[in-house]
Amino acid sequence: MARDGGSRLTAVCFLASYIWLSCSLQRHSLIDQPRLSSFLLLFISGAAAFAASLFSKWLPGADGRFDSEAVLKGMQSSMPHRPRRFYLPCIIFLIVFRLEIIHTVINDFQCTTEGIEAFLPVLLAAHEFFSHRTPPVVSDEPEDMWGDPLEDFKNWLLSSPITLLFSTVLFSYGVFMLGDLTPRSTYFCSTLINKSSYTVLMQWLGVFIDAVVLIMLWRVLSWARTTKSRLRTLGGILILASIGVSALWLSTRISRHHDIIGHHPFKGVGSLYFFDVFSTGLLVSTLIISTALWACDATVLEPTAIATFTSGMMGSIQNVLLIGTYLQPSSGPTLAALSIISVGFIMFTYTNDMRWIVVFKRVFLMALLICIILTSVIFAVAKHKMVDRHPVDDLVYKNRVEADRWLRHASVSTTLKLAVAEYKDRHNGRDPPPNFDKWFEYARKHNSVVIDRFDQMEKDLRPFWGMTPQQIQNGFEKLKGLPDIGIITIANGKASHNRPKDIYAEAVLEETIWIIMPFAEHLPDMSIAINMKERPRILVPWDDVHRLTMAGSQSRFQLLPNRLRPRRGDDSALPESNLMDASRALPGSAAQPYVSAKKFRQLEALACPPGSAARGGVQWDVRDFCTSCVKPHSQGQFLEDWEMFLDPCHQPDIFNLHDFHTTPHLDDLHQDLLPLFSRSKTDSFSDIIIPINNIWAFLEVEMTLFDKKKDIVVWQAPARESRAETRQSLVGGHRHRLVHLVNNASAADEVTMLLGVQADGKTKFQYEQTPTKVANGPLPFEFSFTNSEPCEDANCQLLQREFGFEEARKALDYRYVMLTDSADGGPAHLLPTLRSNSVPVLSSIFREWYTERLLPWVHFVPVDLRYHALHSTMAYFVGLKNRGPINDRPQLTTARLEDARWIAEQGRKWADKAIRGEDMAVYMFRLLLEWGRIISEDRDDLGFKLPE
Ligand SMILES: *[C@@H]1O[C@H](CO)[C@@H](O)[C@H](O)[C@H]1NC(C)=O
Repeated sequence: MARDGGSRLTAVCFLASYIWLSCSLQRHSLIDQPRLSSFLLLFISGAAAFAASLFSKWLPGADGRFDSEAVLKGMQSSMPHRPRRFYLPCIIFLIVFRLEIIHTVINDFQCTTEGIEAFLPVLLAAHEFFSHRTPPVVSDEPEDMWGDPLEDFKNWLLSSPITLLFSTVLFSYGVFMLGDLTPRSTYFCSTLINKSSYTVLMQWLGVFIDAVVLIMLWRVLSWARTTKSRLRTLGGILILASIGVSALWLSTRISRHHDIIGHHPFKGVGSLYFFDVFSTGLLVSTLIISTALWACDATVLEPTAIATFTSGMMGSIQNVLLIGTYLQPSSGPTLAALSIISVGFIMFTYTNDMRWIVVFKRVFLMALLICIILTSVIFAVAKHKMVDRHPVDDLVYKNRVEADRWLRHASVSTTLKLAVAEYKDRHNGRDPPPNFDKWFEYARKHNSVVIDRFDQMEKDLRPFWGMTPQQIQNGFEKLKGLPDIGIITIANGKASHNRPKDIYAEAVLEETIWIIMPFAEHLPDMSIAINMKERPRILVPWDDVHRLTMAGSQSRFQLLPNRLRPRRGDDSALPESNLMDASRALPGSAAQPYVSAKKFRQLEALACPPGSAARGGVQWDVRDFCTSCVKPHSQGQFLEDWEMFLDPCHQPDIFNLHDFHTTPHLDDLHQDLLPLFSRSKTDSFSDIIIPINNIWAFLEVEMTLFDKKKDIVVWQAPARESRAETRQSLVGGHRHRLVHLVNNASAADEVTMLLGVQADGKTKFQYEQTPTKVANGPLPFEFSFTNSEPCEDANCQLLQREFGFEEARKALDYRYVMLTDSADGGPAHLLPTLRSNSVPVLSSIFREWYTERLLPWVHFVPVDLRYHALHSTMAYFVGLKNRGPINDRPQLTTARLEDARWIAEQGRKWADKAIRGEDMAVYMFRLLLEWGRIISEDRDDLGFKLPE
C-alpha cells in the first residue's frame, strides 16, 4: 500500500519518539514514584490526544478521505473485526494491570530476562495468523501481474501467513539474543528473597497483555468513524486508565504513610521530578498518538515490528562497536544476532508487503542492512583481539612515573621564600595565612614530604570564601545545637573541647586536642564543630556550592580597599536565606532524623553538576552493567583513574551498589553549607575533612615478610556490621555482592577475564567470557562474613542463610588483603594494612585526609566497586599456572609476584614517610590556620608577608 506524506510523518514521529524514549528512559526520577508517574504520564497523554483531536484536519487519515478508502478496504478485509462492547472497560483494566506488572518487575529487575519484550510482534503475528485474514495478495502489486510460475511461487511464499509468522519469529529471536550478549552487573538475584521464575513469568504475562491491549485498541480505534473521534476515544481511554492508576496510588499512599513521617522538605527534588514527568509525558503522548494513527492506517503489527527491529539494530550496532573490548569478547554471537535480525526483518517486509519502512524504500533498507553486515564483519576481523602486554603491567609502570611526578609537585619548596611563592602561585596570588612561617618550620622539623600540595583541603575550604564570616558564624551557631557535634575551642593559644557525654566522642576530642596542643599557640582564636558520627552530613546542592565558589574566587581580585569587605547589598545570592529556610524546616531538630535511601540518593544526585549523568535521576536498571559509568575512570576493564572513580557524578549506577547509598541515612542531613568538620566523606558532600579519629591508623603491626605470607586473597567482615536493612542493600550492597560473586555465584553468572593465550611462541592476552563459578575455581579467594555472637535477630539469620559465616582470621597473614568500606565510612584497616607488607586491594568510595596521597597501582591495587575486573586483576598477581583450568584449558600465565611485592613495599615505605602521625598534625595545623583566616572579619587583608 503506497504511503502518503502524512502517514510517513506519523511514522517518523513514532520512530523518533520511540528512539528518544528508549534512550532517555535509562535514568529517570520517574521510577522513584511509579504509580504517581504512570498516572501523570497517562493523564498527559490523554490530554494530548484530546488536544490533537482539535487539529485532526491536518492529521493523516483525516475525515472523509481515509474513511471512504477504509470502507473500500474493509470489503477486502483489511479492517479488523468489529470490536465488542466489553472492549473498552477491558482495555482500561488491562492498562492499569499492565502498569502494576511493570512495577513488580522493576522491583526485582535483576531477576528479569532481558529481551522477552521482543516477542510482542510474534504474538501479534500469531493473532493475524489465527484470525484468518487473507492478506491482500496481488491486488496491491500491479507490477507483479505478469509474473512467471517461479514468480508466482515466490509471491505465494512471501504472502503466506506462515512465512509472516516465521519471519517475525526470526527477527524477534534475533533481538532476544542480544539480551544474552549484554554484560550483567553484579547486583544479584537472591535465591532466598527474590523469586526469579515468578519475575520471568510476570514478564511473559506482561507481553501477553501488551498484545491483547494493542489488538483491542486497534479494533476499537479502527472502527471509529473519523480521526477526530478516534483521538477522542483514545484520549478517553487514557484518562480513564489514569484515574484507575491514581486510585491505586492514593490507596498505597494512605496505607504507607509511615514512610513519609520524619521527612524534611528538601529543596530541589520536586522540580527535577516534574521536569522529567513533563518531558517524558510529551514523548509518550507523541508515541501513543502516532502509534494509534499508524495502526489504524495499517496494522498494529507494523509499528510494533519496526520498533522491535529498531531496538535490535541499535543494540546490535552498539555491540559490534564493542567487539574486541572486554564488553564483547567474542564476535560470533554478535554478528549472528545482527544477521538474524536483518534477514528476519527483510523477510517480514516482503511478507507484510511493506514498500516503505518509515522513510526508507524497502530496497534501500535492504542494501543498507547488507552494507552494515559486511562492514561489521570486516570491522570484527580487523579489530585486534589479542594484546601483547597485560594492561595491568602498563598501569603499574605508568603509575610509578605518576608517583614520582606527584611527589615532585607536592614538595617543590625547600625554603620559606619558595613556599610562599608557590602558595601564591597555586592560590591566584593570595598570600598564605598568617603564621605560615611557623607552619613551614613545623612541617620541616617533622620531615613532612608534602609541603605544597593540599588539594583536598583547598577544595573543601573554597566555597567558604564565598560566604561572609558572619554567615559562617551563623552556621556554626546552628551546628552547636545539634546532637553528635563536638566543639573544639582554641583561645589564647590553648585548645579545649566541650566535654561530650559519650565517652567515645570524648576520647576522639581528647586525641584531637592532643594533636593540636603543640602548635596551638600559633593559631588564632576559633571554635570548630566536629562531626562525631561516621557519616558525613553536609550535602549541599551543586548549584549552591558552585555559586559560593565563584563568589569566593571573585573577591580575591577586588583589590580596591573599600571593596574588600564582603558587600551586604548584593549578597542576596548567598545562603543567609537558606539558613533561615533550614531552621524552619527542622523544628528544634528534635525529630528522629531519617532520610530514606531513595530520598538520600535523590539528594546526592542534586549535588552533581547539571548535565552530569547522575543529575538525571537514579539509575533504575540494576540488571545490566553500566558501560558509560565505568568508562571515564577505566582503561579497558581495569580501574585507572582513582580520583575520577571517587567522583560519583558520572556513575549513577553506584547509587545502587554501595551500602552507603542503599541504606537509609539516620543522621541529620543539611543542604546548607555549614562549617562542619568530618573525618571522611564521599565527593558529593561538603564537609571539611579533618584528620581525626584514626584509632586504628597507627596501631603497631606485626612485620612479616611478604614472601612468608600466604598466597591468598582474604576479605572478612563481621556480619553484625552489615545490616541488610532494605532489599536493595541485601542484593546490591557492596559487601553482599562481593561475597555472592566469590562464594555463591549462580550457574548463570558470568565474568569476563583477561586470559593468556600462546600465539607465535609468545604469551598474549585476550578477553574471554567464563562462568563465574569456573573463574572462582583457580583463584585463591577466601572471602566471608564472620560472626562471633549468637545469631538471633532476623538480619543475622538472613545473612547466615544467604552467605554462611566463617571463623575470623588474621588478615595480615595473607599477601593480599581486600579492603572495603562499611556502610558509613572507609575501611578502618587501610593504614595498618598499608604498613604491613601485604598488598591492600582497595575498593572504596570514601575520602580521608590521606586519600589524595595514595596512588593506585603504586601503593595499593584498586578494584572497581562493580567488581567486574576483580578476577582479571587478581589473576595477574597470583597467576593461573598450575591452579586449574579455565574455559577447558590449563592456564599458563605465571604470577607477577615481583609487582605484588613491589606494591606491598612501596605502600609500606610511603605510609611511613607521608601518612604518619606527624603528617596528620601538619595537615591539621595548616587546616586550622586557613580556617582561622576564613572566619575572621578582615580575612582579605590578613596574610603572611615575607619580611623585606
Ligand atoms: C553461599 O555459600 C556459603 C558458603 O559457601 C553457604 O554456606 C551458603 O549456604 C550459600 N548460600 C546459598 C544461598 O546458597
